[in-house]
Amino acid sequence: MTGNEIREKYLKFFESKQHLILQSAPLIPENDPTLLLIGAGMAPFKPFFTGKMKPPSTRITTCQKCVRTGDIENVGRTARHHTFFEMLGNFSFGDYFKKEAIAWGWEFVVDVLKIPAEKLWVTIHTEDDEAFKIWHEEIGLAPERIVRLEENFWEIGTGPCGPCSEIHVDLGAERGCSADCKVGCDCDRYLEIWNLVFTQFNKEEDGSYTPLAKKNIDTGAGLERLASVIQNKPSNFETDLIFPIIDYAQALATVKYGQATKSDISLKVIADHARSMTIMIGDGVLPSNEGRGYVLRRILRRAVRHGKLIGIKEMFLAGAVDKVIEIFATVYPELKEKRDYIQKVIQLEEERFNTTLEQGTELLNEEIKNLTAQQQVVLAGQTAFKLYDTFGFPWELTSEILEEHNLSMDKQGFDAAMQEQRERARAARADKNGNAALVDLNGIDTASLKQDEQAKVAKIVAIFDEQGKQVAKAYDGQDVRLILDTTPFYAEGGGQVGDIGELKCPSGNIVISNTIKLADGSVVHVGSLTDGLAQVGEAVEIKLNEVRKLSIARNHTATHLLHKALKTVLGEHVNQAGSYVGEDRLRFDFSHFSQVTKQELQQVENIVNEQILKGLVVTKVLTDKEQAKAMGATALFGEKYGEVVRVVTVAGYSIELCGGTHVDNTAQIGLFKILTESSTGAGIRRIEAVTGAGVLAYLYEQEQLVQQVAQIAKCRAQDVVARVEALQAEAKELHAEINKLNSALAENQTADIEQQVQTIKGVAALIAQIPAMDVENLRALGDKLRDKIAGVIVLASVQEEGKISLLAMATKDVVAKGIHAGNIIKEIAKVTGGGGGGRPDMAQAGGKDVSKLPEALQLAATVIEQQIK
Ligand code: SER
Repeated sequence: MTGNEIREKYLKFFESKQHLILQSAPLIPENDPTLLLIGAGMAPFKPFFTGKMKPPSTRITTCQKCVRTGDIENVGRTARHHTFFEMLGNFSFGDYFKKEAIAWGWEFVVDVLKIPAEKLWVTIHTEDDEAFKIWHEEIGLAPERIVRLEENFWEIGTGPCGPCSEIHVDLGAERGCSADCKVGCDCDRYLEIWNLVFTQFNKEEDGSYTPLAKKNIDTGAGLERLASVIQNKPSNFETDLIFPIIDYAQALATVKYGQATKSDISLKVIADHARSMTIMIGDGVLPSNEGRGYVLRRILRRAVRHGKLIGIKEMFLAGAVDKVIEIFATVYPELKEKRDYIQKVIQLEEERFNTTLEQGTELLNEEIKNLTAQQQVVLAGQTAFKLYDTFGFPWELTSEILEEHNLSMDKQGFDAAMQEQRERARAARADKNGNAALVDLNGIDTASLKQDEQAKVAKIVAIFDEQGKQVAKAYDGQDVRLILDTTPFYAEGGGQVGDIGELKCPSGNIVISNTIKLADGSVVHVGSLTDGLAQVGEAVEIKLNEVRKLSIARNHTATHLLHKALKTVLGEHVNQAGSYVGEDRLRFDFSHFSQVTKQELQQVENIVNEQILKGLVVTKVLTDKEQAKAMGATALFGEKYGEVVRVVTVAGYSIELCGGTHVDNTAQIGLFKILTESSTGAGIRRIEAVTGAGVLAYLYEQEQLVQQVAQIAKCRAQDVVARVEALQAEAKELHAEINKLNSALAENQTADIEQQVQTIKGVAALIAQIPAMDVENLRALGDKLRDKIAGVIVLASVQEEGKISLLAMATKDVVAKGIHAGNIIKEIAKVTGGGGGGRPDMAQAGGKDVSKLPEALQLAATVIEQQIK
């Protein structure tokens, strides 16, 4: 039975059990951001399992194209690992459950495929007594043939999942790893060919399992495995679904299949990867450095490298694609229609990688030699990055090659180098306009280039690389400047920012990040390729960012209204002196000699909003200068005009010459709000304002601000003002209270400390340690004490561990007797490990060693005694 026949028989069998046969879904998941590529038969049906969507039938059967790359390094090393495989599936969405699923699975395997029942074993989840009962009582399997396994629970990322039951075929003791090898062992003896998932849970983002409302069945049977059993082949690779590709590759190689394990691995890798790349490109994936494009690139480059390993000299992937298309001719006929396209994409990537593969491999081999010589085992991240950046080696490829030599790479170092390069690229992009101005238009018929706001498609007339050099092709990751034969993109100018958007090429995608105009009027699109490639002469589909463009139009028309309103409110001397019209806001500079008052601003704002709410029609007409003047158009400050001018009219309100983007009716502006008014220099004022969604954002911001204040002040938003006033009054009262308490406290302290006054040689002296106090309060206390005792005082206060404040003060009469506060301080500060000094009547210092404080204070008395004449 051929692989195609098995597929056909499976679908027909389940059709006879009232299942609806559906086509395989494309590999790119629709509306499922959690998945990069479809990796299981059930994946396209997630919403049916969870009940979010109603299925076209409660019983469905499919043969689904699947790609899994989690185990890519095992491909070719084992009999069963693939990056691409086909999964046969029968599904019940709240319809039949275990009983039927088990019975039909068994019937198909035994009666249709005719696999002898005595070779079959089944596994169930440890706790699934229901499944045991069905297998034992209804199917008649002996209990020892039903193996309970904890791992029988199936899930893939988040989504529907549940316990499962599998059918295994015993391929014979000679395929086993040991005499006591059992079902569940990973070796080649017991092969799982059928997986019945009893889908009853949904795995959530947080890792928890929610029971589903209805119980479902998700059955999966790998087509290649079934084929290997039916066709009695040692591995999936020898089946008619894959072997023709191996056959093709070995004809070009210097090795034969079966000759050596290592070269067999390469042949198998090529065969597996050829299937993946063909189907992926057929389903719309393009090589790139991100997401599924990167998966494809990695697979493709891996295949090229394995081709080299087995001595294939020429480009060989397109030929392998032919084989894949032949194998799938009846089941995926669309591949045949897309053959040229698929081969072109593959050849370009193969060609590109070929040119650097040898150099890169040479470099890597050299590094491997060095590492081995130095008895090191880890390749520097920088080197791995160089291989990636210069030679296009996916890091996984470098890592795999290293592993073959029992070495590894420094992935962290690689990531860091990658990050650095991204930053450099970002910095370089900031300079993009400077570069774009350098493009050389020689040889381009610029007179034939058109601008058309409605254009949806265009032809690429010229491509320039980052250096401004004209090139015929550009590849993903490259920054480019493009000229199109016709363009709807508005080029930066007249204060308005340039348009952005995307260009879809036949086999690539370009993101346009700015549009600029050269001196001769030619429009240059600045961007970079995110996927595939772009070529001169190709037709591209234009996806302008329309939402952004409309925001810009709102701000531009509002700028005209603002201009007119300012003239009305402030006077005819108001003239435009510069402007910025962006997506997020507008800025308008104008001549005026004093600050615009709050009332004037409000008036201007009101007038503009009146015009908006009237819903005035905005027209744009091309005419000549004289006609425009006759219409009453305001010529814009400092601008030159050609013969033909564009007149923008807001019906009955404003007329201006302007090439920019505008709304069709002022009502589209929504609302207008001035944010700031300021001066930019002599006689020029600046207004910044928002419109449309910008006003809404402003309102939200204000609303949030009030809510935040209300939350902090613990009141309702509408009570905020009264509440803040009350809080302020309260704070004032509290401050008064604190001051009162503080002076009472100081009073008390003075009284306490006064007790410690002593008389030294007839001079009143107060030497004391007082509680922690900041310097200011300490000094205030000192003043008070000095006056009170009329003598000399020395105070010490420990602020915190390791920080002492020292203060000495003396009245005039004791200074006359020889007391010198500065010298006292100098001496005692030294003892506590600090320093300082000062005047005879007042000195301050800091100290550190708190344990020395008593000693220092004792010394103070001695010094005072010595000082007195
Ligand atoms: N979802 C299960 C699997 O992929 C059964 O289809 O094995």
